Amino acid sequence: MRIAKFTRLGFILAASGSAVGLGNIWKFPYITGEYGGGAFVFVYLITIAFIGITILIAEMLIGYLGEANSVTSFEKLAPKNKKVWKYAGFMAFTGLMILTFYSVVIGWIFNYIFKSFSLPSNIEMAESEFNIFLSTDITTQLAFHTIVFLIIISIVVKGIKAGIEKLNLYLMPILTFILIGIFLYSLNLDGFSKSLEFMFNFNFEKLNSQAILVAVGHAFFTISLGMAAIMTYSASIAKHTNIFRTSLVIVLVDTLIALIAGLALFAFLFEFGSEPSKGPGLVFISLPAIFSEFGIFGNILALSFFISLAFAGLTSAVSLLEPSVQYFIDRFKHSRLKATLLSGGIFYIIGIIALLANTKNFGGNLTFGSKNFFDWIDFITTAFLLPLGGILMAIFVGYIIQKDRVKSLLEPQMGSLIFNIWLFSLRYIVPIALSFVVLNELGVISLNF
Ligand code: PFF
Repeated sequence: MRIAKFTRLGFILAASGSAVGLGNIWKFPYITGEYGGGAFVFVYLITIAFIGITILIAEMLIGYLGEANSVTSFEKLAPKNKKVWKYAGFMAFTGLMILTFYSVVIGWIFNYIFKSFSLPSNIEMAESEFNIFLSTDITTQLAFHTIVFLIIISIVVKGIKAGIEKLNLYLMPILTFILIGIFLYSLNLDGFSKSLEFMFNFNFEKLNSQAILVAVGHAFFTISLGMAAIMTYSASIAKHTNIFRTSLVIVLVDTLIALIAGLALFAFLFEFGSEPSKGPGLVFISLPAIFSEFGIFGNILALSFFISLAFAGLTSAVSLLEPSVQYFIDRFKHSRLKATLLSGGIFYIIGIIALLANTKNFGGNLTFGSKNFFDWIDFITTAFLLPLGGILMAIFVGYIIQKDRVKSLLEPQMGSLIFNIWLFSLRYIVPIALSFVVLNELGVISLNF
């Protein structure tokens, strides 16, 4: 039983804070750019609506009923085979893996907050600055990774209420306010109509199997599904919270912020004739160069943009750490301080390896096959572990937990029609769709069109 619980608003902010992150503002625009725009956005939206919401409700339910860390929750709720099901709870450690590269990227953002005052005057300069920073400037990257690590652990060590809820209470409104401001400004740019067309012109010729798999993986990543972050938060949810309604709010906030960020970014990009397919460097290369066109106002734009990006990153980062911290506290009776240092230490050290993988001196030794260590972690977690976590949760809630328990809680909130559709989706659509994704990543089947 958790003692400190979120307030209702606190939970919505914290869960939305987990969902809204680098995935929305950094990753979503660049993968949309790479996979050709509208058709990709379409698949992403469909996945969110049909798979994302379904799993989000299931994940919240496990946390709400289990009232514990993820391993204990699975163990408690499984009517039999408890010893087997508890292993599903180890999805809590996927968060630590994500956090390794996530913290490094937040570090880059911190660096760019300072660089907002001296923007590169064109894309070539911006590109070479970014590449030099990544491939040679180990000291600065390490310093910022360390600062990010210290911030994250200093929040998580204070616990759910005084740490995580409070952080989100301040940062979420500020970051939303900044993004809406930038979005409103972008409405005045000529590039805005091109941006609208790019994101919502559903040209299916551009769609291929790879794009679909990336969209599904990203839908998980962006709503923070499949690694027990939302589950762990839900263990501290106020009783009688409406899970269904809350899940819709979280998804709505997350999707709106991704769309707003994407539309604004592409409006700036198209205004100055830049390419949308710049990859991970999109916000670090194209954007600073474009902002420099606006003179001093551009510096302010860059500063506020990177601050909002950093805030989005931090509110997600704490949710990536909390599941394993909670696990160490509950299962090993560690103090919160010890548990936080232990979990934090793991991601901090592996994060350094991820950081070095992008550098000139160490990159060669940290490249395995087609990807370096940094990209492998991103790929394995997003494309494989998160969907796998989704399958486990769908099967667990759809087939294993007593149906009466699920039904008596959710049916009054959803109405019986929606409840039945949800259950159908959870039992059949989600496991089948996600199995395709996972089997394809493992090379067992090959989706290719
Ligand atoms: N949802 C976050 C983002 O979009 O950046 C990332 C994330 C946070 C993924 C927490 C998974 C998670 F459990």
